[in-house]
Amino acid sequence: MKLVKVKNYKELSRKASDILINEISKKPNLVLGFATGETPLGLYKELVMAYKKRKVDFSKIKSFNLDEYYPMKKRDKNSYYFFMHNNLFDKVNLNKFNINFLNGETKDAEKECKNYERKIKKNPIDIQILGVGVNGHIGFDEPGSREDSKTRLVRLTDSTIESNFKIFKHGKIPDKALTMGIGTIMASKKIILLANGRAKKEAIRHLIKGPVTERWPVSYLRKHKDMVLIADKACLG
Ligand code: F6R
Repeated sequence: MKLVKVKNYKELSRKASDILINEISKKPNLVLGFATGETPLGLYKELVMAYKKRKVDFSKIKSFNLDEYYPMKKRDKNSYYFFMHNNLFDKVNLNKFNINFLNGETKDAEKECKNYERKIKKNPIDIQILGVGVNGHIGFDEPGSREDSKTRLVRLTDSTIESNFKIFKHGKIPDKALTMGIGTIMASKKIILLANGRAKKEAIRHLIKGPVTERWPVSYLRKHKDMVLIADKACLG
């Protein structure tokens, strides 16, 4: 695991964006895995700015997002589908046919997850961006998730529902979600985990020092061969 220590959130977002832009320049048809939540917002802003300055071209990029609430309408402002379009996809030249998302509107969650898994197998993810939950979840793989878990329907913990309240616009947060599994995430060729702020300190401690355990799913990432942690002082303690 490579650790990139940064001073603050701005530097974290810039570092992540520099890495992505550099990788895209080397391989313009990269398959990218995106995360939602507050952490990658600065990265997405940096990418939009770079695109406006013509420093990056997304026209051949394919993308897969990690997760989506279930059930959830795409047009709902709380959906991750809306979040990604609002913060990145609508602002850069990513081809809409190259955007892959777990469909929170599906009636058949199991089939949806199997199809998504199949699509990822056919288009292996080159770089997966991740954030981490206060309880150590990655994607919506909550504590107890197995190392070999695949894309599936999961129940969210009370702690996750409470933390996500900060970016939920209105209404009640669904208590279920569709998410890539730990095994799906670990199959990505490269993983970039972004972490900032004191709230993430315990999760990051379990990643760096703790044993690999299903109680802290983030700790599984220690086993990945090409994993970069970009973290600020506050969460490194
Ligand atoms: C979002 C996701 C989650 C978040 C995590 C941290 O797609 O998969 O694992 O990365 O909940 O969320 P923030 O960044 O809001 O602290």
